[in-house]
Amino acid sequence: MEIHHNNKQGWSFFLYLCMCGAICESFHYSVPEERKSGSLVANVLKDLKIDVKELSVRRPWLVSKSTKQYFQLDPHSGNVLLKDKIDREAVCGQNDPCVLLSEIVLENPLQVHRIEVEIEDVNDNSPQFSKKEFLLEIPEQTLTNTRFPVESAEDLDKGENAVQNYTLNHNDHFGLDVQSHPGGSKYAELVLQKPLDREKDPRLFLILSAVDGGTPKRTGTANIIIDVLDVNDNAPHFPQSLYNLKIMENTQPNTLVTKVEATDLDLGPNAEITYSFSQVPENVLRSFKLNKHTGELIVAGVIDYEENRNYAISIKATDGGGLSAYCKVIVEVEDRNDNAPEVTLTSLTSPLPEDSPPDTIVALFSTVDRDSGENGRTSCTIQANLPFMLKVAENNYYQLVTQQPLDRESVSEYNITITATDRGFPRLTSTRIINVQISDVNDNAPVFEKSTYEMQLQENNIPGLLIGLVQANDLDTEQNAKVTYSLLPGKVSSQPVSSYVSINSETGNLYAIRSLDYEQVKDFQVTVRAVDSGSPPLSFQVMVRVVIMDENDNAPFILYPLQNGTSPSNDLVPRGAEAGYLVTKVVAVDRDSGQNSWLSYELLKATEPGLFSVGAQNGEVKTMRPINKRDTLKQKLIIGVRDNGHPPQSTSATLSILLVDGFSDPYMKMVDIPKEEVVQEEDRNLTMYLVICLAVISFIFLVSVLVFIAIKIQKRRKFIETSTLNFPVGPNFPEICGDVDAGSLSRAYNYEVCLAGGSLNSEFRFLRPLFPVFSVEPAQSQGAQRISVGTQDLSSDAEKTELMNQVRII
Ligand SMILES: *[C@@H]1O[C@H](CO)[C@@H](O)[C@H](O)[C@H]1NC(C)=O
Ligand SMILES: *[C@@H]1O[C@H](CO)[C@@H](O)[C@H](O)[C@H]1NC(C)=O
Ligand SMILES: *[C@@H]1O[C@H](CO)[C@@H](O)[C@H](O)[C@H]1NC(C)=O
Repeated sequence: MEIHHNNKQGWSFFLYLCMCGAICESFHYSVPEERKSGSLVANVLKDLKIDVKELSVRRPWLVSKSTKQYFQLDPHSGNVLLKDKIDREAVCGQNDPCVLLSEIVLENPLQVHRIEVEIEDVNDNSPQFSKKEFLLEIPEQTLTNTRFPVESAEDLDKGENAVQNYTLNHNDHFGLDVQSHPGGSKYAELVLQKPLDREKDPRLFLILSAVDGGTPKRTGTANIIIDVLDVNDNAPHFPQSLYNLKIMENTQPNTLVTKVEATDLDLGPNAEITYSFSQVPENVLRSFKLNKHTGELIVAGVIDYEENRNYAISIKATDGGGLSAYCKVIVEVEDRNDNAPEVTLTSLTSPLPEDSPPDTIVALFSTVDRDSGENGRTSCTIQANLPFMLKVAENNYYQLVTQQPLDRESVSEYNITITATDRGFPRLTSTRIINVQISDVNDNAPVFEKSTYEMQLQENNIPGLLIGLVQANDLDTEQNAKVTYSLLPGKVSSQPVSSYVSINSETGNLYAIRSLDYEQVKDFQVTVRAVDSGSPPLSFQVMVRVVIMDENDNAPFILYPLQNGTSPSNDLVPRGAEAGYLVTKVVAVDRDSGQNSWLSYELLKATEPGLFSVGAQNGEVKTMRPINKRDTLKQKLIIGVRDNGHPPQSTSATLSILLVDGFSDPYMKMVDIPKEEVVQEEDRNLTMYLVICLAVISFIFLVSVLVFIAIKIQKRRKFIETSTLNFPVGPNFPEICGDVDAGSLSRAYNYEVCLAGGSLNSEFRFLRPLFPVFSVEPAQSQGAQRISVGTQDLSSDAEKTELMNQVRII
């Protein structure tokens, strides 16, 4: 272009010369651009070859050939001056040379001269880039020596004043390589000299300067902004590779344990981190979970110190580019007192004998607390007021020993509550109840319910009658409490006590062995012993008093007057006796006692009714009226005597009374004495008769026996054949047996009665009761007592008679 411009200018200038070569001359001047207006360009006087005077006369004109008038002519001096400042680049652009054409026109004669003013270039323009800023995106890790072309700068000036060089501000990464185009223009390339690191300098600011060659040099600058593009060249990074932390055991699920956070220097997806467990054991997976986006470690399951005291959790952080980093979280579990102590029984002695001495080991047990430290330290107690105590042995072992003597009878079993407490907070306790049975030892003797027993028994009881019951209790149990009863040997009226009563050894029932007679024995004592079956046995004794109760089994017995009939007693009454004269007194006794012996008298029958009366209480026979002549000499009274028993028994007495004239008491006594002597003599005779009789009977008996034996030997064979005859049977024996079997025990009582002195002063006394004799007579028949005098003899006599009867039957 420039070349083309130059050619065009040169060509038109040549044409111009040819056209007006004859008439005009051209002048050539030059002036630098950018001069002030009014600056002198040239003086044309010399070239015009005229002086100043002529010039002004000739009226010069300066005519511009271009549209704008750049110059003016001073007609007085011939100076061509700049009318305006001229910018070469504005007027000529890239044309070179830049020539402005004008003409000086002179009148008189007309003369035209060409003026060429070349505008010289001045370095008034700086190099310029098309943009103030250029943006470059270069990935980090681009290889060094990689080149990046940059835009060239333009300078409006020409030649030397145009861009000559490029410079780059000092920086770490880039250098500038300036090259020349074949035309001579320069261009530059950025050369990477040091690798880029986005993480260090994500953006670089460079200043590119273009320098021209003028004087002074002018520069133009542009900013080059280099954005370093990210490459996943950084792995995630944990600030700590090891996290140590503690959590309490039993931490609730969803509790945040910790948050691990890895950083990645890269950008975007390269910095997107996901977290995951890396090869963790099963127990970790059960107890924890990890938020893969946030890195929060959260409790997911049960944290049990007793199961796992610590967890080592390996966590992996991975970025979007696949780079990872690891860290380790050590979670230490802190113990919580969540386990109560446990009591384990090792041995137990139950039942425990009640005579165990103090310090006997009853139980051995141990405590275990799964917690640790203070939480696992335990202590044991038992409840107070027990005869036991705890002894601490080693290793949480305890002995339960007896402390005091035991007594099964007061406490037969103990429920011992062992309370184990740990020292944690809060304290946890557990209890265990040990049941200790106390076994019996025979330490208690049987004890009777009463200190003494008194039993009552009606006389005339049937043998075998239950009298009463003694009962002894033993506080022990089982064999030690099994009581048996026995009677201690003793005497009851010189008979062994065992012939009176017996005792059931199991039940303690006392039985009468025989029928008892109040009139013989009123009471007696036996000693009962109770023995338990322990080993050794313990025993206890008690006195039992048996009181025999009276029964109305005796009829009144009349002592006076004598009623055996052999010598009917006559009471004499003087005929002159007044009414109320005491004739005699009926004296009766009753062997029973109490009510049964209260007697009352009544007159049953009298020869002369109304003459005599009987005192109901005292038995006194008195006259009721004076005796008159008509009353018969012999009076007979039948007087009934009745006791107060229930039912009552009665007997009667016959009283003979003689009414005599002039008879007094002293006389009566006189008469009685010889009478008694007569009686005694009769007795003696009777005794003699009896002795003779006895001798004769004995003799006959002996003879009979001999005869009997003789007959027996002779007729032995016959006897056997005719043995239908009951040999020992007599008419009396079966009756005896029958009586006994029936249980109605009849007996005869023998009395010895002595009468002394007068009939009114007669006394009686019981002599020792004779041994009861079974009698043929039916029992209880009224008035059936056999009264005999000199009883021993008579009764033996009666036996002999019976024997003789037997013989006779045979
Ligand atoms: C361009 O400038 C650089 C630094 O300012 C200098 O080292 C170099 O010599 C210059 N080149 C030319 C051709 O002037
Ligand atoms: C001991 O415990 C047992 C069982 O619970 C109970 O039957 C018994 O009555 C208790 N004994 C005492 C003395 O508390
Ligand atoms: C009657 O009894 C009395 C007194 O005991 C006695 O002396 C007398 O001999 C008895 N008479 C007869 C006939 O038994």
